Amino acid sequence: MQNKCWPQPDKIWPMEPIQTERMAASPETLPELPIRPASLKDVGGIHRLLQCYSDRDILLPRPESDIYHSLREFKVVEWNGKIIACCALQIFTRTLGEVRSLAVTPEYAGLGFGRRLVGVVEQEARQIGLSKLMALTYEVRFFSNAGFEVVEMSVLPEKVWSACINCHKFRNCDEIAVLKTLSP
Ligand SMILES: CC(C)(COP(=O)(O)OP(=O)(O)OC[C@H]1O[C@@H](n2cnc3c(N)ncnc32)[C@H](O)[C@@H]1OP(=O)(O)O)[C@@H](O)C(=O)NCCC(=O)NCCS
Repeated sequence: MQNKCWPQPDKIWPMEPIQTERMAASPETLPELPIRPASLKDVGGIHRLLQCYSDRDILLPRPESDIYHSLREFKVVEWNGKIIACCALQIFTRTLGEVRSLAVTPEYAGLGFGRRLVGVVEQEARQIGLSKLMALTYEVRFFSNAGFEVVEMSVLPEKVWSACINCHKFRNCDEIAVLKTLSP
Protein backbone atom coordinates (compact mmCIF):
# COMPACT_ATOMS: atom_id res chain seq x y z
CA MET A 1 0.00 0.00 0.00
CA GLN A 2 1.32 3.43 -0.86
CA ASN A 3 2.38 5.52 2.08
CA LYS A 4 0.23 8.66 2.13
CA CYS A 5 3.03 10.87 3.39
CA TRP A 6 5.03 10.34 0.20
CA PRO A 7 4.29 12.33 -2.91
CA GLN A 8 6.16 9.92 -5.17
CA PRO A 9 7.08 6.44 -3.98
CA ASP A 10 10.41 6.15 -5.79
CA LYS A 11 11.70 9.64 -5.47
CA ILE A 12 13.72 10.67 -2.46
CA TRP A 13 15.89 13.58 -3.63
CA PRO A 14 15.25 15.93 -5.21
CA MET A 15 11.71 15.71 -3.93
CA GLU A 16 8.80 16.56 -6.19
CA PRO A 17 6.82 18.93 -4.02
CA ILE A 18 3.09 18.51 -3.56
CA GLN A 19 2.12 21.77 -5.20
CA THR A 20 -0.90 22.72 -3.10
CA GLU A 21 0.88 22.17 0.21
CA ARG A 22 4.18 23.58 -0.96
CA MET A 23 2.53 26.73 -2.34
CA ALA A 24 1.08 27.31 1.10
CA ALA A 25 4.62 27.02 2.46
CA SER A 26 6.88 28.55 -0.15
CA PRO A 27 9.83 30.61 1.09
CA GLU A 28 7.92 33.76 0.09
CA THR A 29 4.79 32.96 2.04
CA LEU A 30 6.11 30.80 4.84
CA PRO A 31 6.52 32.73 8.05
CA GLU A 32 9.79 32.23 9.89
CA LEU A 33 8.45 29.23 11.73
CA PRO A 34 9.97 28.80 15.17
CA ILE A 35 11.92 25.74 16.21
CA ARG A 36 10.67 24.72 19.63
CA PRO A 37 11.20 21.93 22.14
CA ALA A 38 8.80 19.03 21.58
CA SER A 39 5.91 18.43 23.95
CA LEU A 40 3.75 15.40 24.63
CA LYS A 41 1.12 16.39 22.07
CA ASP A 42 3.81 16.22 19.35
CA VAL A 43 4.68 12.54 19.84
CA GLY A 44 2.17 11.23 17.26
CA GLY A 45 3.32 13.77 14.67
CA ILE A 46 7.01 13.03 15.28
CA HIS A 47 6.31 9.32 15.03
CA ARG A 48 4.45 9.70 11.72
CA LEU A 49 7.19 11.89 10.27
CA LEU A 50 9.97 9.48 11.23
CA GLN A 51 7.91 6.56 9.95
CA CYS A 52 7.76 8.15 6.47
CA TYR A 53 11.50 7.60 6.30
CA SER A 54 11.89 4.43 8.36
CA ASP A 55 9.37 2.68 6.09
CA ARG A 56 11.87 3.32 3.32
CA ASP A 57 14.88 2.33 5.39
CA ILE A 58 16.26 5.88 5.35
CA LEU A 59 15.95 6.30 9.12
CA LEU A 60 15.90 3.66 11.82
CA PRO A 61 12.40 2.94 13.07
CA ARG A 62 11.57 4.44 16.47
CA PRO A 63 8.52 3.17 18.33
CA GLU A 64 6.31 5.76 20.00
CA SER A 65 7.46 4.55 23.41
CA ASP A 66 11.05 5.42 22.46
CA ILE A 67 9.94 8.91 21.38
CA TYR A 68 8.23 9.41 24.75
CA HIS A 69 11.43 8.35 26.54
CA SER A 70 13.54 10.71 24.46
CA LEU A 71 11.00 13.53 24.09
CA ARG A 72 13.16 16.08 25.88
CA GLU A 73 15.86 15.56 23.23
CA PHE A 74 13.55 16.64 20.40
CA LYS A 75 13.09 19.97 18.65
CA VAL A 76 10.20 20.39 16.23
CA VAL A 77 8.74 22.72 13.63
CA GLU A 78 4.95 22.87 13.44
CA TRP A 79 2.90 24.28 10.60
CA ASN A 80 -0.90 24.28 10.45
CA GLY A 81 -1.07 21.85 13.36
CA LYS A 82 1.29 19.35 11.72
CA ILE A 83 4.85 18.47 12.72
CA ILE A 84 6.78 19.14 9.52
CA ALA A 85 10.34 18.77 10.81
CA CYS A 86 12.12 17.36 13.83
CA CYS A 87 15.56 16.60 15.17
CA ALA A 88 17.01 15.23 18.42
CA LEU A 89 20.28 15.67 20.25
CA GLN A 90 21.37 12.54 22.06
CA ILE A 91 24.26 12.64 24.50
CA PHE A 92 26.59 9.66 24.50
CA THR A 93 29.55 10.59 26.64
CA ARG A 94 31.24 13.56 28.31
CA THR A 95 32.33 14.73 24.85
CA LEU A 96 30.15 13.14 22.17
CA GLY A 97 26.59 13.90 21.07
CA GLU A 98 24.56 12.68 18.10
CA VAL A 99 22.21 14.46 15.72
CA ARG A 100 19.40 11.88 15.62
CA SER A 101 16.04 11.50 13.95
CA LEU A 102 16.50 14.53 11.71
CA ALA A 103 13.58 14.60 9.30
CA VAL A 104 11.75 17.15 7.20
CA THR A 105 8.42 16.27 5.59
CA PRO A 106 9.07 15.78 1.86
CA GLU A 107 6.65 18.58 0.88
CA TYR A 108 8.74 21.05 2.90
CA ALA A 109 12.20 19.85 1.89
CA GLY A 110 14.67 22.38 0.58
CA LEU A 111 13.23 25.30 2.57
CA GLY A 112 16.07 25.38 5.10
CA PHE A 113 14.36 23.55 7.99
CA GLY A 114 16.98 20.79 8.06
CA ARG A 115 19.85 23.25 8.19
CA ARG A 116 18.15 25.36 10.89
CA LEU A 117 17.42 22.30 13.03
CA VAL A 118 21.01 21.09 12.84
CA GLY A 119 22.10 24.64 13.75
CA VAL A 120 19.87 24.67 16.84
CA VAL A 121 21.04 21.22 17.94
CA GLU A 122 24.66 22.23 17.40
CA GLN A 123 24.15 25.39 19.46
CA GLU A 124 22.62 23.34 22.27
CA ALA A 125 25.51 20.86 22.09
CA ARG A 126 27.99 23.72 22.45
CA GLN A 127 26.03 25.25 25.33
CA ILE A 128 26.08 22.07 27.37
CA GLY A 129 29.78 21.58 26.68
CA LEU A 130 29.92 18.77 24.13
CA SER A 131 33.03 18.90 21.98
CA LYS A 132 31.98 16.53 19.16
CA LEU A 133 28.77 16.03 17.26
CA MET A 134 28.15 13.01 15.03
CA ALA A 135 25.45 11.59 12.82
CA LEU A 136 24.88 8.36 10.92
CA THR A 137 23.33 9.20 7.61
CA TYR A 138 22.88 8.69 3.88
CA GLU A 139 22.75 12.48 3.42
CA VAL A 140 26.48 13.12 3.32
CA ARG A 141 26.26 16.26 1.18
CA PHE A 142 23.71 17.82 3.49
CA PHE A 143 25.98 17.23 6.49
CA SER A 144 29.14 18.37 4.64
CA ASN A 145 27.31 21.63 3.92
CA ALA A 146 26.81 21.92 7.68
CA GLY A 147 30.54 21.45 8.38
CA PHE A 148 30.62 17.71 9.18
CA GLU A 149 33.34 15.37 7.88
CA VAL A 150 33.03 11.72 6.94
CA VAL A 151 34.81 9.45 9.42
CA GLU A 152 35.32 5.72 9.91
CA MET A 153 32.78 4.15 12.22
CA SER A 154 35.71 2.93 14.32
CA VAL A 155 36.39 6.56 15.31
CA LEU A 156 33.11 6.43 17.27
CA PRO A 157 33.40 3.41 19.59
CA GLU A 158 31.07 5.09 22.11
CA LYS A 159 28.25 4.99 19.58
CA VAL A 160 29.05 1.60 18.13
CA TRP A 161 29.26 -0.22 21.45
CA SER A 162 26.36 1.49 23.20
CA ALA A 163 23.73 1.88 20.46
CA CYS A 164 24.74 0.26 17.17
CA ILE A 165 25.30 -3.08 18.83
CA ASN A 166 21.56 -3.30 19.56
CA CYS A 167 20.56 -2.29 16.02
CA HIS A 168 19.24 -4.83 13.51
CA LYS A 169 21.69 -3.40 10.95
CA PHE A 170 24.72 -3.93 13.19
CA ARG A 171 26.53 -6.39 10.93
CA ASN A 172 25.37 -4.81 7.66
CA CYS A 173 25.27 -1.11 8.41
CA ASP A 174 25.59 1.00 5.25
CA GLU A 175 25.05 4.37 6.91
CA ILE A 176 27.92 6.82 6.80
CA ALA A 177 29.37 8.33 9.95
CA VAL A 178 29.93 12.09 9.94
CA LEU A 179 31.55 14.12 12.68
CA LYS A 180 31.93 17.79 13.54
CA THR A 181 34.42 19.01 16.11
CA LEU A 182 32.87 21.79 18.17
CA SER A 183 35.84 22.52 20.41
CA PRO A 184 39.36 21.12 20.56
C1 LIG B 1 18.27 15.60 4.85
C2 LIG B 1 17.11 16.50 5.19
C3 LIG B 1 16.97 16.59 6.72
C4 LIG B 1 17.40 17.89 4.62
O1 LIG B 1 16.43 18.81 5.11
P1 LIG B 1 16.00 20.08 4.20
O2 LIG B 1 15.16 20.95 5.05
O3 LIG B 1 15.42 19.59 2.95
O4 LIG B 1 17.41 20.73 3.89
P2 LIG B 1 17.73 22.29 3.79
O5 LIG B 1 16.67 22.96 2.99
O6 LIG B 1 17.97 22.83 5.15
O7 LIG B 1 19.08 22.26 2.96
C5 LIG B 1 20.30 22.71 3.47
C6 LIG B 1 21.34 22.55 2.41
O8 LIG B 1 21.58 21.17 2.13
C7 LIG B 1 21.24 20.88 0.76
N1 LIG B 1 20.60 19.58 0.77
C8 LIG B 1 19.50 19.22 1.47
N2 LIG B 1 19.23 17.92 1.29
C9 LIG B 1 20.18 17.47 0.43
C10 LIG B 1 20.44 16.22 -0.15
N3 LIG B 1 19.66 15.18 0.07
N4 LIG B 1 21.51 16.10 -0.94
C11 LIG B 1 22.27 17.15 -1.19
N5 LIG B 1 22.09 18.39 -0.68
C12 LIG B 1 21.05 18.53 0.13
C13 LIG B 1 20.34 22.00 0.32
O9 LIG B 1 20.39 22.20 -1.07
C14 LIG B 1 20.93 23.17 1.07
O10 LIG B 1 22.12 23.60 0.43
P3 LIG B 1 22.63 25.14 0.52
O11 LIG B 1 23.09 25.31 1.94
O12 LIG B 1 23.76 25.18 -0.45
O13 LIG B 1 21.46 25.97 0.18
C15 LIG B 1 15.76 15.99 4.60
O14 LIG B 1 15.90 15.85 3.20
C16 LIG B 1 15.27 14.69 5.18
O15 LIG B 1 14.42 14.69 6.07
N6 LIG B 1 15.81 13.54 4.66
C17 LIG B 1 15.36 12.22 5.09
C18 LIG B 1 15.79 11.87 6.50
C19 LIG B 1 17.30 11.86 6.65
O16 LIG B 1 18.03 11.32 5.85
N7 LIG B 1 17.78 12.47 7.77
C20 LIG B 1 19.17 12.53 8.11
C21 LIG B 1 19.56 11.38 8.98
S1 LIG B 1 20.52 11.87 10.37
